[in-house]
Amino acid sequence: MPNANFDKRCQENINQWTQSGQLKPFYNITSPMRPVVEIEDKGEVLVLCANNYLGLADHPEVIEAGIQGMRDYGAGTASVRFICGTLGCHRKLEKKIADFVGTESSLSYVSCWNANEALFPTLVGPEDAILSDELNHASIIDGMRLMSKKVAKNVYKHSDLEDLENKLKETQSHATRWVVTDGVFSMEGDVAKLPELGALCKQYDAMLVVDDSHGVGVLGTGGKGTHEHFDMVGQIDVITGTLGKALGGAAGGYIAASQNAVSVLEQRGRPSLFSNALPATVAYSAHKAIEVIENDPSIVARLHSNVATFRQGLADLGFDCTPSPTAIIPIMIGDEAEAIRKSKQLFDLGVMVIGFGFPVVPKGEARLRVQVSAALTDDHIQQAMDAFAKL
Ligand SMILES: Cc1ncc(COP(=O)(O)O)c(C=O)c1O
Repeated sequence: MPNANFDKRCQENINQWTQSGQLKPFYNITSPMRPVVEIEDKGEVLVLCANNYLGLADHPEVIEAGIQGMRDYGAGTASVRFICGTLGCHRKLEKKIADFVGTESSLSYVSCWNANEALFPTLVGPEDAILSDELNHASIIDGMRLMSKKVAKNVYKHSDLEDLENKLKETQSHATRWVVTDGVFSMEGDVAKLPELGALCKQYDAMLVVDDSHGVGVLGTGGKGTHEHFDMVGQIDVITGTLGKALGGAAGGYIAASQNAVSVLEQRGRPSLFSNALPATVAYSAHKAIEVIENDPSIVARLHSNVATFRQGLADLGFDCTPSPTAIIPIMIGDEAEAIRKSKQLFDLGVMVIGFGFPVVPKGEARLRVQVSAALTDDHIQQAMDAFAKL
C-alpha cells in the first residue's frame, strides 16, 4: 500500500496539472523510431519531435552493428569501467568519437547527462570560476551543482558577449576560468557564437566547453558539429555530446578533450567510477553511425536541405521562424495550455510536435518545437505543411 499522505500529495499535483491543461501525454510507440511511427490506439503519425536528425535510429547498418555488439560481448559489462567494465568496443568507440570531433581523446558515458555530471565536479577545481550561458541545458546546470561549493559560479546573459567579457574581467584572480555553452541551444534552435567565445577565451586564458548534443551530426558539411560549422575543429578545449540523437539515437554520451583531461576523468569522475559502462550494443551502433556519416556526408547535406525547406515553408505560412542552420525550429506560443492544445490539434492531424512549457522553458514562453530529420521525404514535409496550415 502506498504511503497515504505522500500519495495524496502526488494525486493533488496530478489533478492540478490536469485542470490547468499542463499534464503531458505519453504516447506508446509500437514501431522503430523513424519519420512515420505507429502509435498505440492511434495508428501512423509523422514524427517532427525526435532527435533522429540523420534518420540513423533504424538504419540497417546501425541495427546490424548493435546486434553484432550483442553477439560479440553479450548484454553488457556487469561492472564499472575501472574494475572490469572496459571493453574493446569502448576504446574503439572513444577513438572514433575523438577523431570525428577533432580532439586528442574521449570517454564514453551511458548518457550525455552523465557526461555533464562527470565533467564539472571532476575537472573544475575549487579555486576556479565557471561562466555559463543562461540557456544552457539542464544537464549542465545540474552538473555544475555537483561542483565544489567554492567554485565561483557566474551565469551570463544568453549569448551576450559583453556580459561574458565583464564576468571574465571580474574573475581574473581565479586559477582557471571555464566558459560553458551549448553548441546549439535545445529550446531556441540558435547557435552559440563560437568564434567570439573562442576569441574571448583566448584573450582571457579561459577554457571553452561546448555541449554539442544538438550540433553533432547536424552542423558542418561533415556533421562534426557546431565547431565545424565555424571552421573551428581542433580549437575547442572540451566537447560533450550525446549518442542518443543524430549518432544512432540509442543512448550514451561522451566527453571529448585532451588526453590528460580524459585520464583525470577516468581516474576521478564519479559517474564512470561508480556506474556501469555503455552496453556493447550501443558502443557498436554508435560507432557504425559515425562511420555511416563519414562514408556518406550527403546524409548531412539532405538534412541541411530539409531544414531550409521546412523553415521556408513555415515562414510562408506566417509562422515567425528566426533564420538558423539548426534542425530545431521553435514556434513561440506563450501560454503552456495553448501550446499543449495546438500540439494535440497537430496530433489529431497525424503530425507529432510537442508543446513545451515550464519547467523545460520559462513560464509564459511555451512553444511548439519542430525538429527536422534527413529522413523526411518531400511528401512528409508537404504533409507537415498541410497540417500547420490548419492550425
Ligand atoms: C544540450 C543537451 N545536453 C545533454 C543532453 C542529455 O543527453 P542524453 O539524452 O544523452 O542524456 C541533452 C538532451 O536533451 C541536450 O539537449
